[in-house]
Amino acid sequence: MYRFKVLILLFLFIKASVSSDCVQRNYGYSSFVCVCNSTFCNFDGVTTPFDSTEVKVIKTSIDQFRNYEEILPRLDGTVDSSQVDFSIFVNPNVRRQEVVGYGGAFTDSASMNIKSLSQEAQDNLMNMYFGDEGSRYNLARIPIAGSDFSTHPYSYDDIDGDVDLVYFNLTDEDYSYKIPLLRQAVSLASEDFYILASPWSPPSWMKTNGKFNESGELLREMWQPYANYLVKFFEMYEDNLGSTLWGFTPQNEPLGGFDPNWSFNTCGWSAEDSRDWIASFLGPTVSNAGYRRLQFLIDDFNRSTLPWYTLPTLSNSTSEQYVDGIAVHWYDDFTFGPEPLDETHEIAPDKFILYTEACVDRGTPDIDVALGTWDRGEMYVTDIIENSNHWVTGWIDWNLALDLQGGPNWVGNFVDAPVIVNATADEFYVQPMYYAVNLFSRNVQRGATAIYNVVSNDYNDFIRTTAFQNPNGEIVLIAANTAEKAFTIGVINENSEYIFKYTIEAKTWLAIIYKD
Ligand SMILES: *[C@@H]1O[C@H](CO)[C@@H](O)[C@H](O)[C@H]1NC(C)=O
Ligand SMILES: *[C@@H]1O[C@H](CO)[C@@H](O)[C@H](O)[C@H]1NC(C)=O
Ligand SMILES: *[C@@H]1O[C@H](CO)[C@@H](O)[C@H](O)[C@H]1NC(C)=O
Ligand SMILES: *[C@@H]1O[C@H](CO)[C@@H](O)[C@H](O)[C@H]1NC(C)=O
Ligand SMILES: *[C@@H]1O[C@H](CO)[C@@H](O)[C@H](O)[C@H]1NC(C)=O
Ligand SMILES: *[C@@H]1O[C@H](CO)[C@@H](O)[C@H](O)[C@H]1NC(C)=O
Ligand SMILES: *[C@@H]1O[C@H](CO)[C@@H](O)[C@H](O)[C@H]1NC(C)=O
Repeated sequence: MYRFKVLILLFLFIKASVSSDCVQRNYGYSSFVCVCNSTFCNFDGVTTPFDSTEVKVIKTSIDQFRNYEEILPRLDGTVDSSQVDFSIFVNPNVRRQEVVGYGGAFTDSASMNIKSLSQEAQDNLMNMYFGDEGSRYNLARIPIAGSDFSTHPYSYDDIDGDVDLVYFNLTDEDYSYKIPLLRQAVSLASEDFYILASPWSPPSWMKTNGKFNESGELLREMWQPYANYLVKFFEMYEDNLGSTLWGFTPQNEPLGGFDPNWSFNTCGWSAEDSRDWIASFLGPTVSNAGYRRLQFLIDDFNRSTLPWYTLPTLSNSTSEQYVDGIAVHWYDDFTFGPEPLDETHEIAPDKFILYTEACVDRGTPDIDVALGTWDRGEMYVTDIIENSNHWVTGWIDWNLALDLQGGPNWVGNFVDAPVIVNATADEFYVQPMYYAVNLFSRNVQRGATAIYNVVSNDYNDFIRTTAFQNPNGEIVLIAANTAEKAFTIGVINENSEYIFKYTIEAKTWLAIIYKD
């Protein structure tokens, strides 16, 4: 059932589209969730048109709104600056990186949780993420075999010593869960749906410690067989999907495998070994098998590993030629500034930077799943804003859906997710984190360009902004008020004219859209 949307003519120039369709449920945390089930889900609907004399505002707030749309008159004039608390300067002539997209991960657990719902509720959930009337996700990440978000550790060839990969096979997790959902996502997306694959661990028998987890590296004599294993995965996955993959990383979090206490699937790669493997084994094997068409992203770990971890690979011309981009995880974004991203872009301006994993792992409150917590959504929004201002081309969330505990996870590494499934009730709960990614994925198109934006009087860090120009020319300004009080903001264009004046309430996120 689609969202009921009414256009009300308030007076001659002011239109507002009103929606009161989120079925709110409050679990005692700072905000609420929207409850969806087999017969109801609050879709955003189709995009409301507006013209060059108007500005569209889409608002989500801690206490009331979820993607509330208003069409307001545009000013195009001067405003007494004493009437605004903050002016936001936007200049589409100063252009930066191009957007690849936004998405989430079909882990084994996410896929099983989605499939634990009735077909109708599953369809609502999938539409909400991938449909035109939902978040319009155009990217997904998948683990190559198991990760911690699986019910048990495994690889695609767990027969000891099978170096010729005779027993290589995908698993029930792929055939019954991930592949059918990926096919549905591909068919729901209105553009090329990009699938990025990453392995957590090679088969345990290929490793120095004989285990999926803890401290272990790939045995030297397995450098070629494991490259063959990845190619075999590309072949079999594409055959079963009926469409192509978009890209891969050679290893998720490659430094995890040097930690003896690393509890889940991993494999250690020093930056130098990674370079040598790519230059002499993985790169040629992937290319000779016809998979150079896949985007090849390196690192796939925290920003604090930038740029040093990528330097050996990027400064060797043999390994560098196989690499298209750099994958980054968000886990230390709140302790390290964004400078490593700028530095990496300066060193390798032709390699794109993509965030490939993010999730909230406790914090305040100190509980894995805290249904409706606003702060977790605010962390997502402020992170995507900051990264968009530092050369990052897109953002992939971690588990698309988890259960009420934040799992399943075979090592008990439970976390929160934008959508939490209650299989018993055949319901799912849509959290503020969902609306955080949606703020970008629904409004910023693939191929948009990040543009110059800056906030005046930015002495207090309360108003965070980033801006894009979509391929159709529309400007999309994203603004988040992280403070506990309202501010009046003014948007100023490159000709120093005020486009717009608006009061942004406490703890509110906006997408402000207007024609260039
Ligand atoms: C689904 O939710 C809607 C809105 O809360 C409710 O009216 C409807 O009865 C629910 N459907 C089922 C099958 O529970
Ligand atoms: C591959 O695995 C699937 C799912 O477990 C199974 O149904 C199929 O028989 C296996 N194929 C081979 C060739 O072993
Ligand atoms: C691993 O965990 C043990 C027990 O908690 C601890 O004593 C040890 O310092 C840890 N080792 C590392 C390398 O973190
Ligand atoms: C590694 O996995 C094994 C099970 O395969 C488990 O018993 C062990 O506790 C894990 N190691 C850590 C550090 O959690
Ligand atoms: C790049 O690395 C490869 C493999 O380690 C090595 O053989 C080669 O000499 C290096 N090339 C350059 C230009 O450093
Ligand atoms: C990545 O971030 C996590 C969370 O802050 C931290 O535990 C881990 O040590 C970091 N690893 C590296 C290599 O920066
Ligand atoms: C999940 O659904 C069951 C059955 O309707 C209900 O008892 C339980 O309270 C629900 N859990 C949450 C967190 O809403």
